[in-house]
Amino acid sequence: MAAEVPSDVGEVEAALLACEGVAQAAVIAGAPGDHVTAYVVLDHAAVQVAEARDAAKRDASLRQWASVFENTYHEVAAAEPSFLGWQSSYSGEPIPEAEMKLWLDETVERVKALGPCDVLEIGCGIGLVLGRVAPMCRSYLGADIAPQAVAALQKYVDTRPDLRHVHLTPGEATDSLGLHPGAVDTVVLNSVVQYFPDAEYLLAVLATAVEVLGGRGRIFVGDIRHRGLLEVFQSSVQLAWAPDTLSAPMLRRRVSRVVERERELLLDPAFFAALPAQIPAISAARIALKRANSSNELSRYRYDAVIEVGGPVAPRPEAEFPWDDGKSSLGEIEAWLATLGRASARVIGVANARLARDLAGWRLIGHASDAATAADLRGDVAAVAETGEEPGRFWELGERLGYDVEVSWSGEGPLGSFDVDFIDPARRSIGPSPSEKGAAAGPAAGAGAGGMERRLRASLLSRLAVSRIPSTFLFVDSLPRVADGGVDPAG
Ligand SMILES: C[S@@+](CC[C@H](N)C(=O)[O-])C[C@H]1O[C@@H](n2cnc3c(N)ncnc32)[C@H](O)[C@@H]1O
Repeated sequence: MAAEVPSDVGEVEAALLACEGVAQAAVIAGAPGDHVTAYVVLDHAAVQVAEARDAAKRDASLRQWASVFENTYHEVAAAEPSFLGWQSSYSGEPIPEAEMKLWLDETVERVKALGPCDVLEIGCGIGLVLGRVAPMCRSYLGADIAPQAVAALQKYVDTRPDLRHVHLTPGEATDSLGLHPGAVDTVVLNSVVQYFPDAEYLLAVLATAVEVLGGRGRIFVGDIRHRGLLEVFQSSVQLAWAPDTLSAPMLRRRVSRVVERERELLLDPAFFAALPAQIPAISAARIALKRANSSNELSRYRYDAVIEVGGPVAPRPEAEFPWDDGKSSLGEIEAWLATLGRASARVIGVANARLARDLAGWRLIGHASDAATAADLRGDVAAVAETGEEPGRFWELGERLGYDVEVSWSGEGPLGSFDVDFIDPARRSIGPSPSEKGAAAGPAAGAGAGGMERRLRASLLSRLAVSRIPSTFLFVDSLPRVADGGVDPAG
């Protein structure tokens, strides 16, 4: 009998057919929320051409970034880890040391909070994180694509008796470095994924990380650049650099050009939300805005993600509070929480005070008349009131009341807004074991799956809502069709 075919199946099939190398595709979906199976017939010649082209592009990108960092680290005297190379996009000057220290303190605290014991750090650079986290660990392996970083860091490590258990190696992020499954419990990638060639490469890196974790542990991905906010960010940067007389249309052109030419990999938070469906061993991914407000591009536009592998999942919120900008207040949230007992609760779409000016500037630039100049626009932006809430205040409120607090980018609220989860620590549940979840998602899914599946998953991420990406891909020679045009899963 043919499976029931929901109306949105056609959209998923169309998205699959738009992926390179897919000759035919058919999708079976059960009831909403059930998993979706995709049958795919490949055009092997087209796959080969696309893979060769992408591998060449990826290689070129990896080599280019490796050489950028080799050049940067050439200047390192190996005395100790430093903030060399951290420059403000607004001035071209180094980001003030005090701000970088805040950024590093918070990163280190977040990694330490995971209770790491055996660590693999990918892209360890010159050891900013390693130097602070490794002393509390049993083993720590640092790898970096730039041999110069490894050499400089080795000299520093040799000066520190408390880092004798640290090992360093040149290595690229997809390399498992000979680690056996379960050799580490924590994988750290801080401020690295933006130098990855594409999302497919990142999925491959995460699949390797899941393997070396042996199906249980955490992956800390830090300092991720927010893709959805790229145009807002670049509008603020270009406005800062523009000469007074530059016209609004020219300014808009500058913004579009830098957005188009962006070489780094920026990621939407939805990429991480989708990971449990992409790699079955992953039980959850928690996104966190930077807590410390350094009023710089790092605290405004970057975020961290903790990926739980076979670990606890946050309970679904039992109550939700849609934030009403201009009307809602922290006092109101505190009173609301008191009415809920210890239920886990979510506040949705809080206007983000850190971005109020930049968002206003972005809109002003977008709508400005042709006669307006950069000087006019700068004046208009300076006059914008900094409305909205500071994310850090929600952490303070929740912690005072005894909750675990997660402040993440909002999936439903306006651009740049954030959601806050107040979670009773006693109610965090344990996720399904990787084997249970893997079985449910089908044999071909996830970390162990071949490159073609990863390729399709990465490509579908930009074409479909995350919830519509099939959980199982079956690569077949021809589609098993029955008379009424549906797909017979047994066929
Ligand atoms: C901005 S630095 C961050 C260093 C360190 N994680 C920190 O937080 O200070 C990025 C580092 O990632 C390394 N890197 C970039 N792409 C890589 C890749 N594909 N595999 C391994 N390392 C990579 C670079 O060589 C560089 O040392």
